[in-house]
Amino acid sequence: MGGADVEDRELDSFDLTDPATYQTTDVHAMWRRFRAERPVHRHPATETGPEFWVLSKYHDIMKVYKDDENFTSERGNLLVTLLHGSDSAAGKMLAVTDGPRHAAIRKLMLKSFSPRALRHISEQVVQRTRTLLRNAVERGEADFARDVAEHIPIATICDLLGVPESDRAFLLSLNKEALSSSSADTSAEDSWLARNEILLYFGELAEERKKNPVDDVISVLATGRIDGEPLDEDEIVLNCYSLIIGGDETSRLSMIGGVQALMRHPEQWNALKRGEVTVESAVEEVLRWTTPGMHFGRRALRDVEVAGQRIAADDIVTLWNTSANRDEDVFDAPGTFDLARTPNKHVSFGYGPHFCLGAFLGRVEINAMLDGLRTVADRIEPNGPVEPVFSNFLSGLESLPVRFEVDRAGLAGWN
Ligand code: HEM
Repeated sequence: MGGADVEDRELDSFDLTDPATYQTTDVHAMWRRFRAERPVHRHPATETGPEFWVLSKYHDIMKVYKDDENFTSERGNLLVTLLHGSDSAAGKMLAVTDGPRHAAIRKLMLKSFSPRALRHISEQVVQRTRTLLRNAVERGEADFARDVAEHIPIATICDLLGVPESDRAFLLSLNKEALSSSSADTSAEDSWLARNEILLYFGELAEERKKNPVDDVISVLATGRIDGEPLDEDEIVLNCYSLIIGGDETSRLSMIGGVQALMRHPEQWNALKRGEVTVESAVEEVLRWTTPGMHFGRRALRDVEVAGQRIAADDIVTLWNTSANRDEDVFDAPGTFDLARTPNKHVSFGYGPHFCLGAFLGRVEINAMLDGLRTVADRIEPNGPVEPVFSNFLSGLESLPVRFEVDRAGLAGWN
């Protein structure tokens, strides 16, 4: 469905809970209308749940992200859990925990996420990315999503967690099963079982690390103390798992979307290739442009006003990063993919107390990919139909067939 159809529709008719909406609608035209006509929108109830608020303006969204006095994450931070009314990991997993417990667990985990602590992991990201890119470019064609991008974030998270090499294939297959509840060959029950097996696996690894701690996130969680007390087992395993939940698909979809955008904007690819823009600046624009997590959300703890609209205690409020990142009051020519864009204060990593713990690592991954590509590829072209993700939360592609023209000199430089 194109922009014209979007212009004719009632805003109430866009069902933001339905993954199909994002495949059949010109999403950016839709958000332009929400920002202009109804920046604080009351989404009607659907089959999947009650009414909820939809915020589409950058500054309103930032205000709610920042405000953990009036809004909580403990009853879910995504539509799926907010509409269900609760999140089973609440009060234990960082993203759905608030207050002093959140601050204390976050402080503990931050030790493993500083640029210094991540130096070695970052080097491994670069090496792994180069190996995957070299293979793909030498073959001349690849599914950029499945052959390249898919392998980087999850392997990096395994490095970070200290998952032994011998267990990785097992964990990866469980993760695939856990993620694919919407696909035809995996039932919701299989996915649930796979998620539980992942948690059991982390429980066993944590027991082992308690006895023999090493330099990894599981050891930090397994041996850490808050007010002199160890974390309970659920807190340990859920926060291990949260790195996979938070850092696998998001980073992957950003990299894939970045490559698609570069193919569609050859002048931007040329600027990157010739070194006319820095890779750091390109990473930020790829994050803004792709916005892999379309929305996050909160529950109001008390009656509160946002942009002149009264939100009642207990109401669900959803924050649409996809829209904030194209807000014309904040970004010049927001619909232009401009790798040199500055300033570029996108909200792809959220904001405030829950600001993404893995932001540095996500940036390292996208950086390694863009830098690697511009070194060994002269050109990248589409090579077949793409396959979009089916979700009301994630945005991007499951499959992106591409063809490369090799940059022989660049490739030789890697030897
Ligand atoms: C939180 C996005 C990569 C781990 C968040 C939030 C966003 C986000 C928007 C805030 C959620 C909220 O406010 O409710 C992204 C994007 C990424 C990315 C777009 C990649 C492009 C990663 C990576 C990791 C990670 C690589 C870990 C390895 C987390 C964790 C939280 C979080 C643990 C919860 C932080 C807290 O509640 O204090 N992420 N993320 N993310 N992210 Fe990321």
